[in-house]
Amino acid sequence: MVVSPLTRVGAGRRTANVFTGALRLMSWPHHPDRYLELLDPLLTTQSTRARIVDVDRTVPGMITLTLRPGRRCRFEAGQHIQFGVVVDGVRHTRCYSPSNSQHADDRIVLTVRAHPDGVVSRYLHESAEPGDVVDLGPAAGDFVLPPVRSDRLLLISGGSGITPVLSMLHTLADERHTGAVTFLHYARTAADVPQRARLDELAARANVEVVLAHTRGDGGHLHGRFCREHLDAVVPWFPGTATYACGPAGLTASVREVYRDAGAEQHLRTEEFTLPAVTVAGGAEGTVSFTTSGVVADNTGRTLLEQAESAGLRPDHGCRMGICHTCTTVRRSGCTRDVRTGELDSEPDARIRICVNAPVGDVAVDL
Ligand code: FES
Repeated sequence: MVVSPLTRVGAGRRTANVFTGALRLMSWPHHPDRYLELLDPLLTTQSTRARIVDVDRTVPGMITLTLRPGRRCRFEAGQHIQFGVVVDGVRHTRCYSPSNSQHADDRIVLTVRAHPDGVVSRYLHESAEPGDVVDLGPAAGDFVLPPVRSDRLLLISGGSGITPVLSMLHTLADERHTGAVTFLHYARTAADVPQRARLDELAARANVEVVLAHTRGDGGHLHGRFCREHLDAVVPWFPGTATYACGPAGLTASVREVYRDAGAEQHLRTEEFTLPAVTVAGGAEGTVSFTTSGVVADNTGRTLLEQAESAGLRPDHGCRMGICHTCTTVRRSGCTRDVRTGELDSEPDARIRICVNAPVGDVAVDL
């Protein structure tokens, strides 16, 4: 008898379901995970956990973690995954983009920059060690390569924005993509470029050009901040080329401006890794009502997430920059401003991301 792979998969699932069902019965009233994690914290069935197997702190201000998940963690190059860690007894979740290929089955590589006010990034820099166990959540985000890979691709990054585009580069290499790929990365100095050895390996491929621009130090292929002249020097064909840019808001804004001036905006995809500073012209007015908890606070003009946290609430969140949608809740009434675009919105009962929306006057949200 010939058994098709699908039949085998179905049979495998049924066996797993029977096994899990039996475990549930034996472990009642608790979930089997409560006992499985005593054997190995990676054996949980309700969530994905990963063990840190390597920690690299060679780049100043950055840490690169290699994780081995307990089960396969799928993502598309350019997406971010949720990363959870317990700091001082409190579980924190953040979103980080893997920098490795989406085709790597057994590991996730994350590079995290330390932020002076970042609870998680500072904890990782100071305390993460091989053997530590962390939580992983599903991948999300639409900053991804087209399903049919373009013949010419330009990848631009700055600082820790290198991670999603590095993942794209690794993925294309694994797929033996033969189209021309230019990777243009902005860092302060040569010492600030993570995964340099791997970049050099990729640069040895016939179709890959790696261009490093140093904004402060010497020795790069280019010097200074991103500008049109840089593109003219290394990729004069950029206006007709699929381009992916990720980095601080200042870098992506400059790239957008150059593409707009060149009439090439339709070829450009950008993702920011930092929010612009929130400024409140003329001071903030009104109150913010958190309807579920019954808390009311004076509007400080900061984002709703920050104001909720200052009021002692702990809303779900991940990236804190409008990418992952984890913080989405319903604005019952009032007007909010998108701090990235300045856009105002006052439609009642609209779902908004509280990490990128600030109240304008009285606002009520479901928190
Ligand atoms: S926390 Fe990710 S969108 Fe708000």
